[in-house]
Amino acid sequence: MSELKGDLYMVSSSFDNLILKCREYSKQMAPKNLHHGFEHCLRVSKYALEIGKRENADLLIVDMSSYLHDIGRGREEKGEYHTITSSRLAASFLRKSGLPEAEIEKVVHSIKSHSRKKPHRNPPQTLEAKVLYDADGLDMIGAVGILRIALSASLRGEGWDYVLKKTRWRLSIIDDFLTASGRSLAKERRKLVSDFLHQLIHELVEIPGH
Ligand SMILES: [Fe+2]
Ligand SMILES: [Fe+2]
Repeated sequence: MSELKGDLYMVSSSFDNLILKCREYSKQMAPKNLHHGFEHCLRVSKYALEIGKRENADLLIVDMSSYLHDIGRGREEKGEYHTITSSRLAASFLRKSGLPEAEIEKVVHSIKSHSRKKPHRNPPQTLEAKVLYDADGLDMIGAVGILRIALSASLRGEGWDYVLKKTRWRLSIIDDFLTASGRSLAKERRKLVSDFLHQLIHELVEIPGH
């Protein structure tokens, strides 16, 4: 357990319990794959607490949102995006857990606004939502993030064109972080993604006849 978690868990034992329940629920709901599995939520939680502590955010809201932000993946109703599904499931779970409505609203807003994809963008309005947005983004642009592009391609049956397009997009999102701490952590990863993209372009070859 990290120091940051230690600080958070000092707050009160009822909050301890709630965070543990969120983590268990996240583990139970997460897709059983490397791309969006439970470990993605653990990394997002780690990044979010790191950023949230530096930015003086409400770490309880940040940590609950991190664990619950993707629980709707694979459970979307027709035409629904997973940010909406996750926020609905999270609200119902937190209500049953006895969290006050005002706190549930904060978690719901963070989850609803964590996507960077244009059609689903819902700009984060609170500090805690911005922290989740940045933490989720960090998991797209590190070593794991680059590997996740290939995992996603494999799951979707896509080819190298998709990997190339997604790598370019991930390089571009380095300029789309919303907190000072998130921006600074993202910039540290620019060289890795940029070098990887150049090497990928260098290595990829055209398939004869295509
Ligand atoms: Fe997501
Ligand atoms: Fe995510």
